[in-house]
Amino acid sequence: MPELEQALAEVAAEMTERSDRGDVATYIPQLGKVDPKFGIAAVTNDGRIILAGDADQPFSIQSVSKVFTLTLALGKVGDALWQRVGREPSGNPFNSIVQLEHESGIPRNPFINAGAIVVSDILLAGHQPREAIGEILRFVQFLADDDTIIIDREVAASERATGYRNFALANYMKSFGNLDHEPELALGVYFHHCAIAMSCRQLAMAGRFLANGGRNPATGLSVVSTERARRIGALMLTCGHYDGSGDFAFRVGIPGKSGVGGGILGIVPGVASLAVWSPGLNENGNSKLGSIALEKLARMMNWSIFAP
Ligand code: DON
Repeated sequence: MPELEQALAEVAAEMTERSDRGDVATYIPQLGKVDPKFGIAAVTNDGRIILAGDADQPFSIQSVSKVFTLTLALGKVGDALWQRVGREPSGNPFNSIVQLEHESGIPRNPFINAGAIVVSDILLAGHQPREAIGEILRFVQFLADDDTIIIDREVAASERATGYRNFALANYMKSFGNLDHEPELALGVYFHHCAIAMSCRQLAMAGRFLANGGRNPATGLSVVSTERARRIGALMLTCGHYDGSGDFAFRVGIPGKSGVGGGILGIVPGVASLAVWSPGLNENGNSKLGSIALEKLARMMNWSIFAP
């Protein structure tokens, strides 16, 4: 097996050369302006930080943020969250509305847009939207041990200006009584956490607790219980790539969460937290080269949650 440094460098070199990079998301106009890049970072449980390519360039983490908002909301309301959001893969695109009618406004899982909007609504309890947004940002900064992480307000505004589907999802759930706040307010929180900008290094740092049974491996401090870390990992594996989740599990074999900004957070339990970024997307709205890179890296390093 190669050294991790060598494996990362090899994967990054190969991805940087490739011309079939997928298509950048343009439905949020601000995301369409990003240059084709590739970055990858691994932070191991024994404290090594290994970077390759554009690993220090911030990008819009978009739906990857849903891992952090779910973690925060579970900390607030515990398992009561599951009365309002399911835990099943949707088998549908991330912004689909079709299941909501049959399932009485209860989204399939916390990682599709509808589920994450309910999670935002939970985080709003007792807060003004700006306080809830601040709490989410501070939590992510705390996880990554990096106060320089910011929210890109232009991306949030761009998404709000074109967020007709998300408004439809939120209004529809409100009609079923599954939002406590006005749709406008829950969406304000949602658009802003999706607009958090992070580099691969920062994202991999923020994911450390999930690779280490709920504890920050650097400080030994518990972020969530071991059971909760396992469960968040299970949801990432089954629902983290929308209707591409089965394929990602099949090809890569570790829990992952993607975003339309082209980022993916990958977790190798007991070993490392990984982040990869390449803005071109595949047909399911997941980073095309990011998925290929994680598949190659996992194979090179013999990483899989199914490995003996
Ligand atoms: O709501 C949206 O459309 C975006 N803020 C997030 C979507 C996303 O990242 C889906 N990921 N693949």
